[in-house]
Amino acid sequence: MSRGVFVTGTDTGVGKTLAACALVQALRARGLRVAPMKPVAAGAVPRGDGWANEDTLALVEAAGPDAPAPEEVTPVLLREPMAPHVAAAREGREIRLEPLLDAHRRLAVRRDFTVVEGVGGFLVPLAPSFDARDLAVALGLPVVLVVGLRLGCLNHALLTAESVRACGLRLAGWIANAIDPAMAVADENVAALAQRLHAPLIGRLPWSPGANPADLAGLLDTSPLLG
Ligand SMILES: Nc1ncnc2c1ncn2[C@@H]1O[C@H](COP(=O)(O)OP(=O)(O)OP(=O)(O)O)[C@@H](O)[C@H]1O
Ligand SMILES: [Mg+2]
Repeated sequence: MSRGVFVTGTDTGVGKTLAACALVQALRARGLRVAPMKPVAAGAVPRGDGWANEDTLALVEAAGPDAPAPEEVTPVLLREPMAPHVAAAREGREIRLEPLLDAHRRLAVRRDFTVVEGVGGFLVPLAPSFDARDLAVALGLPVVLVVGLRLGCLNHALLTAESVRACGLRLAGWIANAIDPAMAVADENVAALAQRLHAPLIGRLPWSPGANPADLAGLLDTSPLLG
C-alpha cells in the first residue's frame, strides 16, 4: 500500500509548498517514487493554452521526470486566489470530497509515497460541509505541520497540533521554516515547540529567498515519515 503525508501549515504563506517540494526531493533521494498533490488550488496563472497554479507547477517540477501532469496533481483549480469555497462559489462550482479522493487514489497506485499539500491552514473551509481537515481525515494520511517562524507561530502551531490529534490523525512531524529573517529568538521558539508538539522535528529550513527545494532537501530527515 502506498504511503504519504498531508502537509498543513500554521497559516497560508508559511512555506508549505517550499517544504512539500523539499520533502518530495528528500524522499526521491531515498529512491522512492513520489507523487505530489495539491488537490485544491485557488489562483491560476496562464500556462500554454490553459491555466495552472504556481504551487502545482512547483510540485510537478520537484517530482522530476516521473511527475504526474498538473491536472492530476490539482484536480480542482480555481481561478481566483481567495478562500477556496468562495472562489468555487463565484465560479458556480462546489468542491466535492469524492473526486479528490479518487484523484489521490489514481496517483497513489503508481507511486510509493504521496505528498499532499493542504490549502491554507488546517481548518480552511473547502465547501459548505467540509474543510481541509476533513480532506486529511478522508485521505487517512499522517500530517506534517509546517511552522512559519514568526511572532504568533507558537499559538498557531499548538492549536493546529491539537486539531490534528482531535480528529484522530497522527502528527508525523513538523518543519520549522524561517519565513521572517528579522524574527527575534527563533531558536527559543523552535525549542518551545520541540518541547510541546510531541512529534519529531523533520528539519529546519533557513531563510533562503529564491531557494531551489533540491538544495533544502538535505536538511530534512524523512525517516520518521517512513517508519
Ligand atoms: N525559508 C524561506 N526563505 C525565504 N522565502 C521563503 C521561505 N519559505 C517560504 N518562502 C517564500 O514565502 C512565500 C510563501 O511560501 P509558500 O508558497 O511555500 O507558502 P504556502 O504555505 O505554500 O502558501 P499557500 O497557503 O499560498 O499555499 C513564497 O514566496 C516563498 O518563496
Ligand atoms: Mg502553497
